[in-house]
Amino acid sequence: MSRIVCPRLAGRVVSADEAATHIRPGDAVGISGFTGAGYPKALPDALARRMTAAHERGEDFRVQLWSGASTAPEVDGVLASAHGLSKRLPYNSDPTLRQLINDGEVEYVDTHLSHAAQHMWFGFYGPLDVAVVEVTRILPNGLLVPSSSIGNNKTWLDRADKVILEVNSWQPAEFEGFHDIYNGTRLPPHRAPLQLTSTMQRIGDPYLRVDPAKVVAVVETHAPDRNTPLKPVDDASRAMADLLVDFLRHEVRLGRIPDSLLPLQSGVGNVANAVMAGLLDAEFEGMTAYTEVIQDGLLDLLDAGKLTGVSATSFGLSPDGVRRFMDDIDSYKGRILLRSQEISNHPEVVRRLGVIAINGMIEADVYGNVNSTHVMGSAIMNGIGGSGDFARNAYLNFFVSPSTAKGGAISSIVPFVSHVDHTEHDVEVLVTEQGLADLRGLSPSARAERVIEHCAHPDFREPLRDYVARARAARPHARHTPHLLDEALGWHQRYLETGTMA
Ligand code: COA
Repeated sequence: MSRIVCPRLAGRVVSADEAATHIRPGDAVGISGFTGAGYPKALPDALARRMTAAHERGEDFRVQLWSGASTAPEVDGVLASAHGLSKRLPYNSDPTLRQLINDGEVEYVDTHLSHAAQHMWFGFYGPLDVAVVEVTRILPNGLLVPSSSIGNNKTWLDRADKVILEVNSWQPAEFEGFHDIYNGTRLPPHRAPLQLTSTMQRIGDPYLRVDPAKVVAVVETHAPDRNTPLKPVDDASRAMADLLVDFLRHEVRLGRIPDSLLPLQSGVGNVANAVMAGLLDAEFEGMTAYTEVIQDGLLDLLDAGKLTGVSATSFGLSPDGVRRFMDDIDSYKGRILLRSQEISNHPEVVRRLGVIAINGMIEADVYGNVNSTHVMGSAIMNGIGGSGDFARNAYLNFFVSPSTAKGGAISSIVPFVSHVDHTEHDVEVLVTEQGLADLRGLSPSARAERVIEHCAHPDFREPLRDYVARARAARPHARHTPHLLDEALGWHQRYLETGTMA
């Protein structure tokens, strides 16, 4: 049965090649896609082929690409390989594109994920020429059943001059009812409070809307999301998860959080997955998650009845997770809600609900500043993603990382981070496989001691203690946050020169 039951839009069905002719060199293109879910499957490849042909004729054909968050090789990968991108925002994790960004070929605007939509509405990014959005179905009245992510789709559909829809029949028709699209956004000074006061509350509609007059093409696809398999949980991740879960127990015992905890947010990846596995074995019941991405670990907690509901903006499941979800999709309806990313990551809601935020990091310094994005201060890894949206506004935040990288040559605890994403004022608890440092209510010097003794790898503790001691001694009247700036920066330089920080 056709997924396009709106006669007006059914008449716009064309091939991906034909649809791609609507995108011109220099356009700003807003696409769907978040953590490898719900991105357009056919159009980017057709566009990349047009770009390559244009380049072979000696013509420049590049576009700006705006998304929800990371996409997949079929989007960022093919467009980067075709050298078709001039600018990218707000998040990328594709290795080919990462290289072009770090080579200086592509401009990258690494943005808080809750900011992208409002910056568009404020006019900070300029006009949006084309939106390319994957949906699951088009209803007779033209309403769109969203796909496996929402991201910035509502904003792209509202703001773009032209719209191309991809209708992907691989996505389950049963998705209808899994989404909550808020349509009440107004701009300052007319903004009203967001009336979202509990994790699973609906404040919008299950459908995306589009002005049919703007739809220049509809493309039919049948292709899976990226669905990256999860790495098995390693010892370091398990150790960090155990520390974190124990700490939550401690907070419950002290009466600072309820038995059912507070809504959880967890970044993607190995440690996040291990934490969810740790919670599966823990005693907490009746938990909820107000987060960005639904990984397998959250499905496990839903299946076990430990979690009563998950609000997010996207799925990010492994192939096994997708199978499990699809096999029993009806049982998740009402327990999973996908929202626009400016709502899933909304500072007002995160603060109101009292979210417990758990995110990865590249490195932290002894005073508690965190670098989530840059290796050795200069090369971008992925981007800040939602970590700032959640950490800054959370009831309690954790940053987690193994204590060393690159086989032990690099310490993840350093005198001064080489790039700051989360300042000492925003960071509460650091966790490595060595231990956990609760930094709440501590002065910088007290934080330094705790971070070194609890989180640094033993190989690096002495050089870090020595740094802080000499920094304190060097300027007796500047001991609030003592630093030896040349040496602090030289700490990273040493690795670049010798291949080890030790
Ligand atoms: N110095 C140099 N390289 C480092 C490093 C350090 N201190 N710490 C990590 N790395 C490298 C690792 O070696 C690895 O590189 P490789 O792929 O070449 O081996 C890479 O960074 C990823 O590290 P890994 O240990 O596998 O961690 P991860 O997959 O948990 O990712 C972040 C860690 C920080 C990159 C990831 O959490 C991230 O992108 N965070 C920012 C966005 C975010 O927090 N999103 C969630 C919000 S909802």
